Amino acid sequence: MDKNLALEMTRVTEAAALAAARQMGRGSSEKADQVAVDAMRTALNTMSIKGTVVIGEGERDEAPMLYIGEKVGVGDGPEIDIALDPLEGTTVCATGKENSLTVIAMADTGNFLHAPDTYMWKIAVGPDARDVIDIKRSATQNLVAIAERKRCEVRDLTAIILNRPRHEKLITEVRQAGARIRLIDDGDVSAAIATCEEDSGIDVLLGSGGAPEGVLAAAALRCLGGDMQGKLMWRNAEEQDRAKKMGIEDLDRIYGLKDLAKGNVMFAATGVTTGTFLKGVRFYGGGASTHSVVMRSETGTVRYIEATHDFKRKPFYTTPDGSIYLHLGEENK
Ligand code: FBP
Repeated sequence: MDKNLALEMTRVTEAAALAAARQMGRGSSEKADQVAVDAMRTALNTMSIKGTVVIGEGERDEAPMLYIGEKVGVGDGPEIDIALDPLEGTTVCATGKENSLTVIAMADTGNFLHAPDTYMWKIAVGPDARDVIDIKRSATQNLVAIAERKRCEVRDLTAIILNRPRHEKLITEVRQAGARIRLIDDGDVSAAIATCEEDSGIDVLLGSGGAPEGVLAAAALRCLGGDMQGKLMWRNAEEQDRAKKMGIEDLDRIYGLKDLAKGNVMFAATGVTTGTFLKGVRFYGGGASTHSVVMRSETGTVRYIEATHDFKRKPFYTTPDGSIYLHLGEENK
């Protein structure tokens, strides 16, 4: 994959973030998601790639845009598989809370797990606890192994966990083991990334979240040198049937980091609302500024990009209600 695609990817996440950010705190997660999808798709379709969405907004029958299998890009470049989430943390954005992002990852064809829209049990750690996690073992055993590797006590560790009733037992166990917990409302992609950031104070992500988000997190952790394992969870037979149709043969398989995202991977995200590692979009008269990260697994280069956008000259701009248009004024032709 051409490394220069990385900057193009950032344009895509910026466009989605600029659109979604207009909806911050406005109460509609659907609207926020919809404008992000529109913007991301418009921007993606200007890229010189033959792209296929493999992790997207859902299956074709349930998502009109950026559905799994949709072809994107102008069609004259390399064949690329794309995992995306135009707005990770739709409710967070609609309520103006922390950590909503726009996210995209790219890899050569066949390198992302085609994850069905189910839950995935996840454990993720940063580079300093690589290779010690084992999803088959209990949360307590994993905390002990991580503490040993980090040469600290379990009580020095902080686990990040989605605050959900289904995690009641997990939370009790982690408390009994003595670790600290950061409970979050949403956003386990940024939570997984936080394990790789020294300043975040987060040591491990535990618990279940969306399987598609698991693939996106794995793409980021490949670039950041972290580690992750996942196991798909099934609520009913219908989910299992859908998964089989998507090519999942072993329903009990445990996925390592490279089973989720292998080969050369690139990952980009732009902050919509301010969070642990990205600032949210800030608007001012006639423009806005965005904060993005883009990274590559091949070299491990991580770039943070602060951009200012002049809506009079920019090809993509948002209207006050958050709709996004491709601006084809004279100056852009
Ligand atoms: P959305 O962007 O679709 O709202 O997802 C937010 C999220 O918190 C993800 O980060 C996470 O993987 C998933 O929802 C967890 O699902 P649930 O809200 O059903 O527990």
